[in-house]
Order: sequence, then C-alpha cells, then structure tokens
Amino acid sequence: MHALNKWLIDNSITRQVFAKKINISTATLSRYLSGDRSPKQSIMKKIIKETKNEVTPSSFYSSQNKNIFNNEFLKKHLLGIEGLNKKEISSLLDRADSIVKQNQNNVIYHSYKGKTLVNLFFEDSTRTKTSFELAAKRLGMDVINMQIETSAIRKGESLLDTAMTLNAMRPDILVIRHSLSGTPHLLANKVKCSVINAGDGKHEHPTQALLDALAIKNRKGKIKNLKVAICGDIIHSRVARSNIKLLITMGATVNIIAPSTLLPNNNLLGARAFTNMQQGLKDADIVMILRLQLERMHGSYIPSAKEYFKFYGLDRNKLNFAKKDALVMHPGPINRGVEIDSELADDINRTLILEQVELGVAIRMSVIEHLLNNNNLNTIQ
Ligand code: CP
Repeated sequence: MHALNKWLIDNSITRQVFAKKINISTATLSRYLSGDRSPKQSIMKKIIKETKNEVTPSSFYSSQNKNIFNNEFLKKHLLGIEGLNKKEISSLLDRADSIVKQNQNNVIYHSYKGKTLVNLFFEDSTRTKTSFELAAKRLGMDVINMQIETSAIRKGESLLDTAMTLNAMRPDILVIRHSLSGTPHLLANKVKCSVINAGDGKHEHPTQALLDALAIKNRKGKIKNLKVAICGDIIHSRVARSNIKLLITMGATVNIIAPSTLLPNNNLLGARAFTNMQQGLKDADIVMILRLQLERMHGSYIPSAKEYFKFYGLDRNKLNFAKKDALVMHPGPINRGVEIDSELADDINRTLILEQVELGVAIRMSVIEHLLNNNNLNTIQ
C-alpha cells in the first residue's frame, strides 16, 4: 500500500478531505495512489511533500482551513431531526466518526478559537450539557454556561429578552434545553447566531438521536434494514420522537413498545406499536430503553414501578425475545430496577450506555463544526 494511503487510513482522513486540503481533485489523488504518475509536476510536489510527513496529523487537524470535511448539512440551526434527509444526517455522522479517533488521542483542535458557545439549560442535564461544553472546548471555542438559577430570569426577565440580551454579546452558537416544545424554534427566529436544540419538552432531542445512530453504526456497521425496538415511556419522550424519525429516514424499521397509557394514540411517525414485550422485541437488532419521564406526567400512567418492571423492565429473560446478538441502549439517566435490570445495565458486552455518552462528544463537535462552517447562510431552518 502507498505510504500516503496508509497515513490517510491511520489518521481517519478521507481522500476527499485530503485532496481538498491540498487543492487537488479527489480523482487526481486517487490516480496518484493507484500508481499513475501522469499528473502535473506541481501537483506531484504537493503530494510528495505530504507523503514525507512534513504535515503531521495534529497540524492537519488544527489547520486554519476550516472547511476540511465534506459538508452536506447546509443549515443554520439544528432544531430537530424532522426535515433532515439521509445526506444531511450522514454528513453529521461521518464527520463525528472521523473525530472519535482524534478524541481518543486527546487531539485539541484550534480552528475555532475566538468562537463562543452559550449553554442555556432550563432543565436539568448531565450528559448533554457537559458534552456540549467539552465538544466546544475541544474545538478551541470559549464556552459560557448560563446559570439560570442566578440569572436575571429570576427577576422576571422573559426568555425572549434573555435570548436577545445574549444575542447582543454576539455568541456564535446558542444551545438550549427547555421544557416547552418549540422554544429553540422561537429563539432561532429572534437571534443572529446558530441555535441547537438540546431537548425541547416532549418534542425533539436531535443530538441524542444522532449519537444513538453513530453508536448503532459503529457496532452493527449499518443502520439500513436493522430492526430497532424502543421500549418505555414513548408518549413523553423527545428521544423516542427524534430516534424514530432518524432511524426510519436511514432505512431501519422501528417498533415502539409500552403500556397503552404511554403510547401515542396516533401519529406513530412510521413506527409499529406494541403493548407486549415478546411481540415487540421479536427479531430486534437493537433494544432502546427509555426512562419513565415522571416530570412530564400529570396523574398516574402506571400502577407502580414494581408492576412496570415486571411487564416492561428489560432483563435477560425479556432480552431473549430479541435477536441473539441484540444490543441494549439507553439515553440515560437510567433508573435501575424500573426500566432496566441493574446487572444487565452494567454488562458492557450487551449494553452501549457509556459508549453512547462517549460518542455524544464527537457528535456535538460535528454539529458545531457544521454550523460554524455554515454561519454565512441566511436560511432559518
Ligand atoms: N440523555 C440526556 O439527554 O441526558 P441528560 O439529561 O443528562 O442531558
């Protein structure tokens, strides 16, 4: 194998990205790597310079050339999975996939120095908030974590006024989580910067669905034609909505399983609904378990947590209804002994829970990078 080809593979750099970086076409690079020496001498010199390792992987990634990946997600905001096509989702997943290895080697990018991300979380979060902060810092950005409980919101300032105030400080990205569905969409129409939805009520949680998709792709090698069973509190779950939309767009089939009180009456978004775990889990490649969203329940939806676990909590017996090699996912936080058996939750051969968290940083880096590269777009999506 050509030394440059090996270098590209070892450093997870695609031919397309490398060719763009040194301003030649992918076809010319591919011809060179397959032994064709007919292109112009000047082009050869550029390639040979790289081959001699005069550019290291870390300097390659910290390059000032920000547009070094193939960006098919040309939107100003990420407000939901709804409306995204296969190409746009793949663009976000592919970039994240190339970042994962760099994160494991603790590579810090400096390309986005001077850019600012503001975290505005009106609901509790461990994973999403922390990983957005880490993702932005890995990209060399400044991060502001707004402390809602000590902000002027406590003095009666409205959400819109808060957003306009932050907007006046010219951040580049605003990440918002709010209990009211549609809040990120409202803010996106008011502020100049890009807005990322980090979870809005029962509506959407797009970066969760993206990181789940990356975890599935990493372990199963594909998403298309897989059967994914999503079990638990579907009706209150933004994670379920975003996942169903993404998985169906990417060619998977989705079963949703819950007691009838926790299933939507209509608009299943293309999923098939089951109230029985044995039927719903049949032939599933992936079993995604959801938490009971007690904070969104008004009244009683289940007789008791004990009863719920008996019929819907995932343990090894119920997992046997799925395929032999089925993998278990959970967006977290998990409630052991309610929706999932504690011992199963800790089995790293069957569950991807912590892997999902790790991939969340790469997905958020990918989303931020795409949006920063798009920040001249006027489209409001
Ligand atoms: N999965 C998820 O959104 O977790 P957090 O609430 O901890 O952010």
